[in-house]
Amino acid sequence: MNLAVASTNAGLAVQRQVLSFGSANAMLTTLENAAVLYLGAHLVLGNQLSVGMLIAFLSYKTQFVSRASGLVDQALSFKMLGLQTERLADIVLAEPEPAPHSGIHRSQEGLSASIELRNVSFRYATDEPWVLKDLSLRIEPGESVAIAGPSGCGKTTLLKIMLGQLEPEEGSVWVGGIALRQLGLRHYRDQIGVVMQDDRLFAGSIAENISLFDAQPDHAQIEEAARMASVHDDIARMPMGYNTLVGDMGTALSGGQRQRVVLARALYKLPRILFLDEATSHLDVLTESIVNKAIQRLNMTRIVIAHRQQTLEAMERVILLAH
Ligand SMILES: Nc1ncnc2c1ncn2[C@@H]1O[C@H](COP(=O)(O)OP(=O)(O)OP(=O)(O)O)[C@@H](O)[C@H]1O
Ligand SMILES: [Mg+2]
Repeated sequence: MNLAVASTNAGLAVQRQVLSFGSANAMLTTLENAAVLYLGAHLVLGNQLSVGMLIAFLSYKTQFVSRASGLVDQALSFKMLGLQTERLADIVLAEPEPAPHSGIHRSQEGLSASIELRNVSFRYATDEPWVLKDLSLRIEPGESVAIAGPSGCGKTTLLKIMLGQLEPEEGSVWVGGIALRQLGLRHYRDQIGVVMQDDRLFAGSIAENISLFDAQPDHAQIEEAARMASVHDDIARMPMGYNTLVGDMGTALSGGQRQRVVLARALYKLPRILFLDEATSHLDVLTESIVNKAIQRLNMTRIVIAHRQQTLEAMERVILLAH
């Protein structure tokens, strides 16, 4: 709110400057026109200048003045350019994610889908309290694990550490027996499917959203993913089917439909590990159990954050985060 007030005040100050600059400019131009006309008329009356020459002079003068003021405007634009490049530099000069250590990712095509955290501690800043402290756990390939705990206890943070989005301050993350840092995030992310708590749909068709704008989408696989997420029937009922436009300008989907489309997106590339952060919270219990059964058949490692009892019961193991 303070920033908004400051920005409004700054806008007002700019408007005031523009107004006074504009009126000063208009006054100067008028005075200058009057002065030139006055002097010119004197010269004409004194027979030092012909009327034709005065008119020619005036028309050239107008041209000169407008070009000159154009030049000033350009100079101002050039000054603004510095500001724009500074903003661009924030993005262009951002540090890229570390590349994988050479060789390893190629020999690891068949990544074993186990995840291990060793003595992981994490906090968002050095002067903030620890969110996770000395946490170790191991999740076997094919296992389905739920993470539960009160709101704000660090479940999403834990998931982001497993995803490599956050780097633990102490300890390390191991995937299939290889340290995540060595494995390389790009190679790792090719093999995982993720639905975060606040995932959204992009402006585009449902098919594009499920395939994540794949350049060569596999339509059979899109439909298969939608069936697994139990949203195929809903989509088929829409007049435009998979070409229905969603996102900012498109058809509004219900919260549960949106969640299932996002889930289909995570399933589209048949990941080896599936991470869900409250990805089925808007579904009714029956739909959720259908989705759960469909995913179970895929035999992928599943790590699911959930609050609901039924969701927790469907998992092989529940990790309770507390204290
Ligand atoms: N980007 C951030 N910067 C600083 N602190 C954060 C950030 N994200 C989360 N936190 C803090 O870390 C703690 C854990 O947050 P987290 O999102 O992991 O909780 P959660 O268990 O997922 O909660 P919920 O069930 O409500 O989603 C909270 O106290 C929160 O205030
Ligand atoms: Mg959360």
